[in-house]
Amino acid sequence: MTSDVFGTLMASVDQPLVVLTTAAEGERAGCLIGFHGQSSITPEQYAVWLSKANHTYRVALRAAHFALHFLTMEDLRVAERFGSLSGDDADKFAGLDIDHDEYDVPLLRACPNRMLLDRIAMLDDGGDHVCLTTRVRSADTGGAFVPLRLSSADHLEPGHTSEERAIQP
Ligand SMILES: Cc1cc2nc3c(=O)[nH]c(=O)nc-3n(C[C@H](O)[C@H](O)[C@H](O)COP(=O)(O)O)c2cc1C
Repeated sequence: MTSDVFGTLMASVDQPLVVLTTAAEGERAGCLIGFHGQSSITPEQYAVWLSKANHTYRVALRAAHFALHFLTMEDLRVAERFGSLSGDDADKFAGLDIDHDEYDVPLLRACPNRMLLDRIAMLDDGGDHVCLTTRVRSADTGGAFVPLRLSSADHLEPGHTSEERAIQP
């Protein structure tokens, strides 16, 4: 299979986009995520794949708690901010209405469809992303919504490309 075919198949899935946020030792982080999915029914578990190039990955290495915000069609600006800026050189949270959970994880008030997640494991299988597996601590929704999907945001330039990982294989 060529990478063109792989890319076409993956684009046809047209994943909904989410923003993962976290904090460790007073440092907050968050990025746009297209690689994610439910990984267990009972217990309720969820997996997210984080690029090794991202500031969010480096904070996540030290973090135990996360929030996952499901974006709606009204959230393109949120996707742009969290997918195109990097915490390496910008404060993505500046100017946004932010709440915090009991572990100081930043919660985007504008994005009420969200889950609070507790880390189970971080698995590195040699790819350019790691798999963060989590247990769902709580889930909230602001009501029915139309998800923002990759096809509506594929013009965004990622703050870091996956080739930028610190250690090359
Ligand atoms: C449409 C789209 C989907 C993305 N999906 C992921 C993803 O699944 N995992 C990930 O770690 N980064 C993903 N990114 C890249 C990060 O969101 C982006 O590089 C971000 O600027 C990193 O910010 P940070 O350095 O503050 O963590 C995606 C970016 C875009 C535009």
